[in-house]
Amino acid sequence: MYHKMHLILFILLSFTLNILSQATHSRLHTSVIAITKDEKTSFHTVSWGYFEPDHILDLDAPFTWKNCIIRHSEIVCGLEEGCRFPLPCDNTLCKEAKSYINPICPSLNNITSKYGCRICAVTPFNPISNTCKISQLTTDLVNLYLTDGRNPSPGPDHPFGSRFVVSCAPSSLLRSFPEGVRGVASFSWSSLSFPRQFSYLHMTEKFAVCLPSSSSARGVTFLGDGPFYFLQFPKLDLRTILSYTPIIRKTSKSLGYYIKITQIAVQGTAIGVSSLIKTSSVKLSTLVPYTTLRSDIYKALVKSFSTATKNIPRVTAVQPFNLCFKTGSGYHGVPKIDLETQGGKKWTISGDNSMKHVGNGVSCLAFMDGGSNVEDEIVIGAYQMENNFLFFDLVNRKLGFSSSLLARGTSCNSFNFTEIGN
Ligand SMILES: *[C@@H]1O[C@H](CO)[C@@H](O)[C@H](O)[C@H]1NC(C)=O
Ligand SMILES: *[C@@H]1O[C@H](CO)[C@@H](O)[C@H](O)[C@H]1NC(C)=O
Repeated sequence: MYHKMHLILFILLSFTLNILSQATHSRLHTSVIAITKDEKTSFHTVSWGYFEPDHILDLDAPFTWKNCIIRHSEIVCGLEEGCRFPLPCDNTLCKEAKSYINPICPSLNNITSKYGCRICAVTPFNPISNTCKISQLTTDLVNLYLTDGRNPSPGPDHPFGSRFVVSCAPSSLLRSFPEGVRGVASFSWSSLSFPRQFSYLHMTEKFAVCLPSSSSARGVTFLGDGPFYFLQFPKLDLRTILSYTPIIRKTSKSLGYYIKITQIAVQGTAIGVSSLIKTSSVKLSTLVPYTTLRSDIYKALVKSFSTATKNIPRVTAVQPFNLCFKTGSGYHGVPKIDLETQGGKKWTISGDNSMKHVGNGVSCLAFMDGGSNVEDEIVIGAYQMENNFLFFDLVNRKLGFSSSLLARGTSCNSFNFTEIGN
């Protein structure tokens, strides 16, 4: 009885949503979500909708998950639970989610034999504690904001929200997350990721990420084609300042984003391991705090950087860094590091992204030695992405990058989040 009533409610609601989205069918096809930084852990989080808490932004996750429960009772839908509908196992997105098997997660065989096809059992993964739990995929509602590139305005399904498939997860999976963070937001290659799942709202499978450098700043991610404008330059579409390099997908099932770097140079001089990195692909990770290099590449970078900074006074290294300087308040005289990408364009890392101020006028080279036995020779971490505008074009498989926006007089804190009408 309840089941039927809720089913009818759902059908009515879906119907209304469809009519509404057609009625307000918008000329806008880009969505905007704010990014914040947790000062203590340095993780970057996104939050969608009014009541949604923060989720860690992950370029690698197979699907989005949040701390929620689905009751195994007749009542499948309660608005207090966000009106969730378990996905059946034959749903395309369920099959996709199940195709990304994480070997450290428990097997789902027993669940499947117990519940059959009524649910879609999956194993949400916490990338910080490296743990998984068994849960299931469900339909949730996401309150998207669209943008003309300058301001947010209510999305097509406002105020109900648009359908979105997420996994629930028990609260025990939240351990090791910053306070207030309730899950992981997927921005990967998976068709369950944010940028790809919303393509049904006529958003192109492209997204931009601009990470803020402090907890008092508000960064931004855009889903869709753009344009993108920041406050300081109302006439400058940020797409016009980008350089592009191919995005590599390692295998048809790999989730993360890779680019190729043919050379690393410090103040214009190659660091001397070009033969080693010629064949390497470079991963982009918002979960790795500082760019991490295989030992030989790291040592060559530190050697070149030391030589280029011999006029800056050294101080005892401050953990976790190995090379620290007395720089005062700014980064004057700090050499720039260029990553020469496939296609010849340079991603320039200047002091704001290469040096980390650790207090008392001391700054350290913010790169890490990953050891000699690493899966990826180079992983570009979040600190090096902050205040850089990155545009992931999944359609044409290329990455647009700006290098530091600070050098251009703007930053990732410069989108105007004042809401305007549609
Ligand atoms: C599956 O169920 C069997 C029998 O109940 C049990 O012995 C086994 O440990 C279970 N496997 C997993 C992975 O939970
Ligand atoms: C932000 O956008 C609003 C709405 O268009 C506008 O009134 C306001 O002046 C903008 N803020 C700044 C700092 O330009």
